[in-house]
Amino acid sequence: MQVDGKPYRSIWVNADGITIDVIDQTRLPHEFEILNLKTLADSCAAIRDMVVRGAPLIGATAAYGVYLAMLQEPSNAALDRACETLYATRPTAVNLRWALDRMRALLSDITPAERSDRALTEAGRIAELDVEINQRIGRHGLELIRKVAAGKKPGAAVNILTHCNAGWLATVDWGTATAPIYMAHDAGIPLQVWVDETRPRNQGANLTAWELGHHGVPHSLVVDNAGGHLMQQGMVDLCLVGSDRTTRSGDVCNKIGTYLKALAAHDNEVPFYVCLPSTTIDWNIGDGFSDIPIEQRGADEVTQIAGKLPDGGMGTVVIAPEGTGVVNYAFDVTPARLVTGLITERGMAEASEAGLANLFSDGASKGTD
Ligand code: MRU
Repeated sequence: MQVDGKPYRSIWVNADGITIDVIDQTRLPHEFEILNLKTLADSCAAIRDMVVRGAPLIGATAAYGVYLAMLQEPSNAALDRACETLYATRPTAVNLRWALDRMRALLSDITPAERSDRALTEAGRIAELDVEINQRIGRHGLELIRKVAAGKKPGAAVNILTHCNAGWLATVDWGTATAPIYMAHDAGIPLQVWVDETRPRNQGANLTAWELGHHGVPHSLVVDNAGGHLMQQGMVDLCLVGSDRTTRSGDVCNKIGTYLKALAAHDNEVPFYVCLPSTTIDWNIGDGFSDIPIEQRGADEVTQIAGKLPDGGMGTVVIAPEGTGVVNYAFDVTPARLVTGLITERGMAEASEAGLANLFSDGASKGTD
């Protein structure tokens, strides 16, 4: 997508042809900085510290992390170590495991001398695949938005609520929940996007609002607790959110607070759609409530808020009494019964085991059309 008229992806190979560049998402929206990853340790830190985040981008960064590890040392032991270290960076988004399994399967079958070149090519394929998948999700979601627009008065905006950042910054390009939004906007359909701020890290305020603003999509930032009120007032036509892990039975694990939006949507008969690449489906898990590891993050994310200070620099302010106990679950699970539909690269699936199996009848997710 465009940043100040220049096309960007969230991750790419540096002009040196060797190292990897990412946008530092901890600095947005106040500073646009590019961070250069040279080693496995750089890649692990970027994922763990949320310089990069969002399920698909975590997967792509991990794939490039394996490549950087192979540049340093292409041995079997180093390959195992790289995959294990990367796997431990963040627990919830299943794309991380998907990408690492794919890299490990390819690289273990070839000689160490071939590994770094093949790893770079394969990581590039994973990144490219994500872009293609999101474009397909976008096209399927666009048809849905067209139908909603057709049911409204001519010229009236379609009101979409989204949570967290399931935008191009969370993927390699386009985003999952935002791909239909960008395509609908580009097709001339009037839109109004409600952007949940998404405490504690404010991915909505910092990232989604920044992305939509750069693309010229009309949007308003709302506090996390506003969604129910907006829906009661008839101000939301549909919800579009992303997913970090979807079980084979259609339960959706996504950023904390997604479940509350789904409950409010259900109560107000607002359709609630989840946009997800098949790489986000965990076919090994049927029950989202007991089997998905829910990441717990540090207390600082809750007791402090990062932002731009009056002197123009970036900093954090403390908002809770010193020593306040904190629990910080980063994700929650929305049960399949609250999900109107799953928008995948193969089209819309009912959020159920039968619905997903029907669409992906060739078995486990291959990330293919
Ligand atoms: O903790 P984050 O910022 O990595 O969480 C991201 C989300 O929850 C996104 O909505 C999710 O990854 C879907 S993104 C395409």
